[in-house]
Amino acid sequence: MQILVTGGAGFIGSHLIEHFVRGGHDVIALDNFVAFYNPGIKEHNVEVGRAAAEEGHGSYELIRGDVRDEEQVSDLIKSVDVVFHQAAQAGVRTSVEQPQKVNDINVSGTLNVLEAARNADVERVVVASSSSVYGKPEYLPYDEDHPTTPVSPYGASKLAEEHYTRVYHEVYGLPTVSLRYFTVYGPRMRPNMAISNFVSRCLNGESPVIYGDGTQTRDFTYIDDVVMANTKLLRNDAADGEIMNIGSTDNIAIQTLAEEIRDQLSPDLELEYADRHDADAEHTHADISKASELIGYEPTTTIRAGVEKFTEWYRQNRDWYEPLVRNS
Ligand SMILES: NC(=O)c1ccc[n+]([C@@H]2O[C@H](COP(=O)([O-])OP(=O)(O)OC[C@H]3O[C@@H](n4cnc5c(N)ncnc54)[C@H](O)[C@@H]3O)[C@@H](O)[C@H]2O)c1
Repeated sequence: MQILVTGGAGFIGSHLIEHFVRGGHDVIALDNFVAFYNPGIKEHNVEVGRAAAEEGHGSYELIRGDVRDEEQVSDLIKSVDVVFHQAAQAGVRTSVEQPQKVNDINVSGTLNVLEAARNADVERVVVASSSSVYGKPEYLPYDEDHPTTPVSPYGASKLAEEHYTRVYHEVYGLPTVSLRYFTVYGPRMRPNMAISNFVSRCLNGESPVIYGDGTQTRDFTYIDDVVMANTKLLRNDAADGEIMNIGSTDNIAIQTLAEEIRDQLSPDLELEYADRHDADAEHTHADISKASELIGYEPTTTIRAGVEKFTEWYRQNRDWYEPLVRNS
């Protein structure tokens, strides 16, 4: 199949690409290499896609461009069957500082993708949404009927993306799906997230820093499970028009996570605490039964197994990854 992955040089996009190319698909990545974190990580992600293509499976083409560029997006989408829209200004805190910019990229960018896809008659558009749309928990785990009251401009922008995505299915019959990812981690993950920070600091003999008192909980989803959910949508129309949680097998308190990583890597370190940001969610925990029923989504990586895999990968890739992570 011909596939477009927007944000294809990013963390999740590049894993999707690696998997699709290895599966024999022809993939185009669109990315503007924004310096939200060290773009050196994205350059490396691109090499991973190229290497997969060189092994002789599918093909890989990188387009440096912007989802806000209507003409470029429309030209690219004409040649593909399926779009996985990952491009976004991620990160809750940036959105508090620059809400208009985030709206522009996330909402207008998504609208460009949907509009081009409608005109080109693509087979499916899969949009990356976020657990941030839920905001304040009224009950846990969140199912998709839980009220959506985002507590950050980022969450509001993701909710708007979802609404447009659903409306394009209802009004124009475009096959679309929104996936609400719950904190995704794994090799090549974004810097400045709890797991990459804790592992990096502990391996360097520095205390892991917890924002808040550490009682907040997160549903951390291993990248392979996210790739699996997206892959199931390549040829499956069972979730068209739907919004689904993509979470993990369980959730964990940040303090417990920090302690476990510390105990494994550098047991003598004390935990450090810093101020919690108001826009950070208090708890996230996904009910994944909808995705399980519709597309057979079954996450397999527990947080402990995933952190172990990430730490092992970090050790093996420390030479190039660590300087970039710590300079982000
Ligand atoms: N990682 C997570 O925990 C998580 C959780 C929930 C939702 N998401 C969503 O998943 C998607 C991918 O996230 P990620 O963690 O891989 O982030 P990422 O920042 O690594 O990837 C996003 C990519 O989009 C690119 N991009 C940004 N603005 C662009 C623009 N205007 N035009 C073209 N490309 C642009 C960036 O350069 C980057 O490479 C995002 O939509 C994000 O909101 C991620």
